[in-house]
Amino acid sequence: MATPSGANSGGQKPWGGVFSTATDGRVEKFSESVSYDCRLYAQDIRGSVAHARMLAAVGVLTPTERDDIVAGLTRIAAEISAGTFVFRPELEDVHMNIERTLTERIGDAGRKLHTGRSRNDQVSTDFRLWVRDEIDALTGLLRDVQRAFVGRCAADADIILPGYTHLQRAQPVLANHYWLAYCEKFERDRARLADCRRRVNQLPLGTAALAGTTIPIDRQLVADELGFEGLVANSLDSSSDRDFAIEFVACLSLIALHLSGWAEEWILWSTSEFNFIKLPQAFCTGSSIMPQKINPDVLELTRGKTGRVIGDLQALLVLVKGLPLAYNRDLQEDKERVFDAADTVRACLELAAPLVAGAELKRESIASRLEHGYLDATTLMEHLITQGVPQRTAHEIIGKLVAGAMEQNIPLAKLTASELNAAHPGLASSAPSVLGAANSIAAFKSLGSTNPNMVADQVAKWKERLEGEP
Ligand code: ARG
Repeated sequence: MATPSGANSGGQKPWGGVFSTATDGRVEKFSESVSYDCRLYAQDIRGSVAHARMLAAVGVLTPTERDDIVAGLTRIAAEISAGTFVFRPELEDVHMNIERTLTERIGDAGRKLHTGRSRNDQVSTDFRLWVRDEIDALTGLLRDVQRAFVGRCAADADIILPGYTHLQRAQPVLANHYWLAYCEKFERDRARLADCRRRVNQLPLGTAALAGTTIPIDRQLVADELGFEGLVANSLDSSSDRDFAIEFVACLSLIALHLSGWAEEWILWSTSEFNFIKLPQAFCTGSSIMPQKINPDVLELTRGKTGRVIGDLQALLVLVKGLPLAYNRDLQEDKERVFDAADTVRACLELAAPLVAGAELKRESIASRLEHGYLDATTLMEHLITQGVPQRTAHEIIGKLVAGAMEQNIPLAKLTASELNAAHPGLASSAPSVLGAANSIAAFKSLGSTNPNMVADQVAKWKERLEGEP
């Protein structure tokens, strides 16, 4: 990469036979990918080892050649992980760097490794292995965040929060109902990743450049060794397909959206205006000018980084749009976007779990707010409905009661018996059982509601589910 512009850095290309002119140094710099696809080295070596074993099994390599290749690749893997391997940008990508070094060390056996494959199926194999590993890691991180939410439930079980629609106070909701709402979202994210993984986990290797190969390879053997569930069926499709990467980043985008909604909510809750939550100080930062500030930067960055992940998805969609079959070099641009999206979401999830676990709800401040905003109005309306009043009529009656209470600036529970009875005969004697946040909560009946018994059942279900996981 220290190549002076326009000058060639020397070194025969693995594909150089047909060329009589050396590559322009600027082109080498422009087209290299090893500076970032070196991240695929472990997957590249895993794939090459499986390929070599298969080539030996079908008689293309001798057992000695196979053993030399496997030993050489194993040594290279160790050097790369130790940081002692020298990648050469003039060899373009991670695939050619590894193969060239192997050949320099073991000779002709190394020159046979690329039999029956192309970099097109090789890169797709490496990338699928990488995405598969990443899916497994992200699934574990999502589980950690779910565990953090469920871990709060014992301590927060009796806390009632105002629930909002349109960010206006709506109905009372148990804190644990909030926590489980996030568990559900992250559970769908996990299910999406699992579904995506099935399509990622199809082996492209052996589809070669675009048409397959005349060498009698055994793709199933490679699939079995690498743990792929099946073989990509059509070589043209295989060479051009990046659906798996796009789908993966779409899954990541949804995770990022869920995180950003949660982050926004907790940013609001941590303001003096809301004053619902105290964030752990280790996850906040201060201001260089205002000494009193404790800012929710981790949450803000989590919210902000969502834009970046969505940008990565957009870039991938536009990258693939309009590409003819089969492989096109455009596809090399996929890796940085996928790496960036995965790194970003991983970092957010890694911080989300301890932040969720370490935050404290401000009980008194929350409780004082439940008095305001007529959170129990809907429960009172439904109470009238259960007494036979048509919903539209009940809505109007309670609307008028609320208007009267608003005028006096008092909660519904402070209305006089005569005011309540004037609205509906006998209401004064039955209303107190459903007024106030705690009574309202207890009155909920529908499955999936914030009824305390139902929420407790859900908490138990989540605990059991998460405990049963590794
Ligand atoms: N570095 C390339 C990529 O990421 C590998 C495949 C190159 N194939 C080719 N025919 N030039 O897409």
